[in-house]
Amino acid sequence: MSALRESEFVGSLDCGTTSTRFIIFDKHANIVAQSQEEFPQYYPNPGWHEHDASEIQDVCDRVIEQAVTKLEEAGYIRSSVKVIGVTNQRETTVVWSRKTGKPLSRAIVWDDSRTRGVVAHYTHVLKTQGIEVNGRLRSGADGAQGLKELTGLPLSTYFSAIKLRWMIDNWEDVRKAHDADELAFGTVESWIAYNLLGGVSAGQHISEVTNASRTLLLNVRTLKWDPVLLRFFGFRESVLPRLVSTSEVYGNLANGPLKGVPLGGLVGDQQGALIGNKCLSQGQAKCTYGTGAFLLFCTGTDIVYSNHGLLSTVAYQVGCQGKPVYALEGAIAVAGSAIKWLRDSMKLIKSADEINTLARTVPSTSGVYFVTAFSGLLAPYWDPGATGLLVGLTSYTTPAHVARATLEANAFQTRAVIESMKLDSNSELGHLKVDGGMTNGDLAMEVLADVGGFEVVRPEMRESTALGSALLAGSAIGLFGWDITRPDTLGDVNTARSTHFVPRTGEEERSRAWRGWQRAVERSRGW
Ligand code: G3P
Repeated sequence: MSALRESEFVGSLDCGTTSTRFIIFDKHANIVAQSQEEFPQYYPNPGWHEHDASEIQDVCDRVIEQAVTKLEEAGYIRSSVKVIGVTNQRETTVVWSRKTGKPLSRAIVWDDSRTRGVVAHYTHVLKTQGIEVNGRLRSGADGAQGLKELTGLPLSTYFSAIKLRWMIDNWEDVRKAHDADELAFGTVESWIAYNLLGGVSAGQHISEVTNASRTLLLNVRTLKWDPVLLRFFGFRESVLPRLVSTSEVYGNLANGPLKGVPLGGLVGDQQGALIGNKCLSQGQAKCTYGTGAFLLFCTGTDIVYSNHGLLSTVAYQVGCQGKPVYALEGAIAVAGSAIKWLRDSMKLIKSADEINTLARTVPSTSGVYFVTAFSGLLAPYWDPGATGLLVGLTSYTTPAHVARATLEANAFQTRAVIESMKLDSNSELGHLKVDGGMTNGDLAMEVLADVGGFEVVRPEMRESTALGSALLAGSAIGLFGWDITRPDTLGDVNTARSTHFVPRTGEEERSRAWRGWQRAVERSRGW
């Protein structure tokens, strides 16, 4: 083999809900090497979804190893990777022992809905006892509003504090560690950073603010853990990680093929995709279609509180003194996972891509609606009691109609989020940038434009989540002159060609279909 060359690259570890990958980018965001692996999913009871945190870490270590091997095969020395960033599935809750550095239980995944009872309990507490917001007790109907002002979030099974409460109440090892002040709580970036930076011996228990803004424990305005929220949920302060920003050097990798390389970016995957799409300023929006679908609309340095079922969330903060930038978010729990369900459980298709081919064999759903509320409904409905519903079936219905109704379900839920966004932000959305696995199918995008009535823009380069964390990490050390706070420094990154999908349906047809969807949603609720 000829001598390996030195260059300058940035690595991004993208740890999603079902798979993890490590991508090495050059300064133009071209992919130089990458590796991806799926990891096991555990569904021990209906509505339950767990991960093994040790398996997540093992798969992270393996994909880094494999991608670095590929980098060397491509002719570059490993020290060409100057910095790495991490982006991750959010809200998933990990608990480990400060003493051993080992997980105390399985992690509870973001879309797990076992905690409905915990939500009902705290909904009652909010009403009857209330919560203190800026020295004033907010209770009754105003309690939920008070919580929203503190955290940007409603009470839901989705968020980490609810999952942590369930773990402490139901798993003895977790409770004992909590009582003994030995419990470390973290979202996935916190767990990965802990291990990458040396585990128990280094003791770097940190959490990044976009992830922390999904816990129900962070004051979304001050970006500090809020003692009122800790008391409300009954957690000891010792469980909490130290807060860090989205882009700064947190430390150097302690082990593995990239030992000594700085870790310079941590970001929740949906915020990562927002940054990778360069939606860095007020008014820019993207939607990522992965396991779920997540539409984020950047609101700049203002927090916009939603009156229409959206979340106010931190988009990014550069450096611990940096001014935070916020986003409004519509989170849809089921998108790609409905296609996976058609493939794995219903055996209607053999591969995920086949949904487009099958759905294209019919011109419409012929009145079939599929409300994919497998774990309740998130934005903008927030109904943990909703269940999946297929309605409008006749003896004429074929798998093709169901396949098309699945694509439409995705589009209708996106439209519902956009309708809320328009009302909350008082502005029209010019077009919607999209990415994620589901966007590979042209029909899925045509249906989205037709049902939604807006233009859909699909960039050629769709690894925006990983790219977002690479940009944050590069920016932390000034690599390639990148500076997230100055979008002009990002140059030609992610400016490749895009495909545009424009609506082909008339207003009347769209409105009729939309009314049908709203009726179907009503029927899926309170089942
Ligand atoms: O909030 C959950 C989200 O971060 C999961 O994203 O891409 O793993 O479905 P994804």
